[in-house]
Amino acid sequence: MKPTSAEFVKSAFQETDWPREARPEIAFLGRSNVGKSSLINSLLGTKGLARTSSTPGRTQALNFFLVNNRFHFVDLPGFGYARVPERIRSGWGEMVTSYLAKRTQLVLSIHIVDSRHEPTKQDLQLHEWLEHYSRPHLLVATKSDKLSNNELRKNIGSVQRTLHEDAVVVYSARTGQGRDQVWQAIESALAAFSC
Ligand code: GTP
Ligand code: MG
Repeated sequence: MKPTSAEFVKSAFQETDWPREARPEIAFLGRSNVGKSSLINSLLGTKGLARTSSTPGRTQALNFFLVNNRFHFVDLPGFGYARVPERIRSGWGEMVTSYLAKRTQLVLSIHIVDSRHEPTKQDLQLHEWLEHYSRPHLLVATKSDKLSNNELRKNIGSVQRTLHEDAVVVYSARTGQGRDQVWQAIESALAAFSC
């Protein structure tokens, strides 16, 4: 699929802010600073649409983007950033879990991990949660440009073992590696939704 148009719709700080319409949604999930917003920008071929930052924990709301006038990308707040105040951290859990549990038009959850690091306990929890509730999901290991091929092979193996998941898309927002594979997964999810 080619993204022909993409625009920011809104930031949702609570459930009542979620767009009230039935367009399918693709959610981007993962640890704080893992590269969620960069993945969105790289898929869309835009630089600053989803705000990226070198300060972890920047995205604290659910950010909705309308793509090709047909579906939404949802940039979710990152988890596991220790310097976020406890009040906001527990709010994170509530906001994201209720979105994942309730949102009927959520057709694909893209779970992003850093290819340089072992997945965390929270990554494992998220993965198990998505499996348990049979939510369609795609595992993406990003920042592949920061590793040699050897290191990458080793680390992807450890992601597969830790999360008990064979299918991992190796991604780089810098080089565009994996972009076509992610778009294919999005397309399949959208096709399944409209059947
Ligand atoms: P929060 O919204 O704060 O949770 O972060 P995020 O998950 O949206 O991460 P973001 O996209 O803001 O990226 C964090 C940092 O990692 C930025 O400095 C990005 O430039 C960098 N980054 C993201 N993806 C890649 C990648 O594929 N390669 C490299 N080299 N850097 C990346
Ligand atoms: Mg972000």
